[in-house]
Amino acid sequence: MRIGLLGTGNVARALAHGWRAAGHDVLLGSRHPKERTDLGPLPVATLDETAAHAEVLVNATPGGVSVELLHSIGAPALAGIPLIDVGVGLSDDFTRLTHPNSSLGELIQEAFPLTPVVKTLCTMDSTTMTAPGDLTEPGTVFLSGDDAEAKRITGLLLTDLGWPASSQLDIGSITTARGQEHFAFLFMGIAGGVGSHTFNIKVVTRPAAR
Ligand SMILES: NC(=O)c1ccc[n+]([C@@H]2O[C@H](COP(=O)([O-])OP(=O)(O)OC[C@H]3O[C@@H](n4cnc5c(N)ncnc54)[C@H](OP(=O)(O)O)[C@@H]3O)[C@@H](O)[C@H]2O)c1
Repeated sequence: MRIGLLGTGNVARALAHGWRAAGHDVLLGSRHPKERTDLGPLPVATLDETAAHAEVLVNATPGGVSVELLHSIGAPALAGIPLIDVGVGLSDDFTRLTHPNSSLGELIQEAFPLTPVVKTLCTMDSTTMTAPGDLTEPGTVFLSGDDAEAKRITGLLLTDLGWPASSQLDIGSITTARGQEHFAFLFMGIAGGVGSHTFNIKVVTRPAAR
């Protein structure tokens, strides 16, 4: 698939390398593509060009600016393109949520109703996103969104990153994105306890329940 990733940071690079290795056509979208000379083999273009290229878009920009950045591309250019949102809205010092009684995923979906949003992968660090098989077991990756087809495509792309279907848990509508995003604080606590950011959590149930 043609995957456009908005952002050129840790997450965008990790995901782009992962999907490129799986055979996808990736393109990173930057505010300053000419200045991004440190991306190795990953191609980079403007945000508008990246949206125009994409069959699927990924938001990997700071959560506090993502909606504004998507507005700069414009709703018509984004209409009909599934948007995988990995962003989390946190203050620069990581102590406050920028959308405390909502979520970035919900706000994007509200602002761009013709763009089906799927929230996923934001409950782990960028290393785990693309190498779940390096952990003792993958654990759980969550999907939130209102559009079944966008979720199906997201599930296939997660599989291509190494997430078995049994690790992918659909937790419901885009309103459940706030649970994923607000997990950020527990993530930081667990990271302190484990002594590493490279871990994941796993949902376990009674054997008969699943
Ligand atoms: N890092 C993780 O492990 C992790 C885990 C879970 C979720 N997340 C979430 O994923 C998103 C991306 O995280 P990241 O670690 O990749 O962030 P990052 O390294 O800071 O990269 C963010 C990218 O967004 C672009 N950008 C667009 N507007 C920006 C602005 N106003 N200020 C700064 N950058 C801007 C920049 O690319 P250009 O300069 O080229 O435009 C930048 O490279 C964030 O929402 C984060 O909370 C990250």
